[in-house]
Amino acid sequence: MPSAPDPARCPVSVTADPRRVTVEPQGPALVEGPVEVVLDDGTVARSDRFMVAVCTCRRSRTYPWCDTSHRRRERGGPPPEDRNPR
Ligand code: FES
Repeated sequence: MPSAPDPARCPVSVTADPRRVTVEPQGPALVEGPVEVVLDDGTVARSDRFMVAVCTCRRSRTYPWCDTSHRRRERGGPPPEDRNPR
């Protein structure tokens, strides 16, 4: 069970409105912007969009932002029907 953030350790004001995050199955986390993401190397990526799709699959060429590369995983189903039937 998640607990309330420790105000002494949390860099975000606990009085601010909660930021809503929607996690898409097999897809990105949709976060109300603006958003700053701290990357593995410590650099910070920022987006000022109203809604930001943060990549959770790490396949994006624009990581940390989703570029829909996660959808490629869903391929592999049955081949498309013959479009030129005889
Ligand atoms: S979640 Fe969309 S590219 Fe990773």
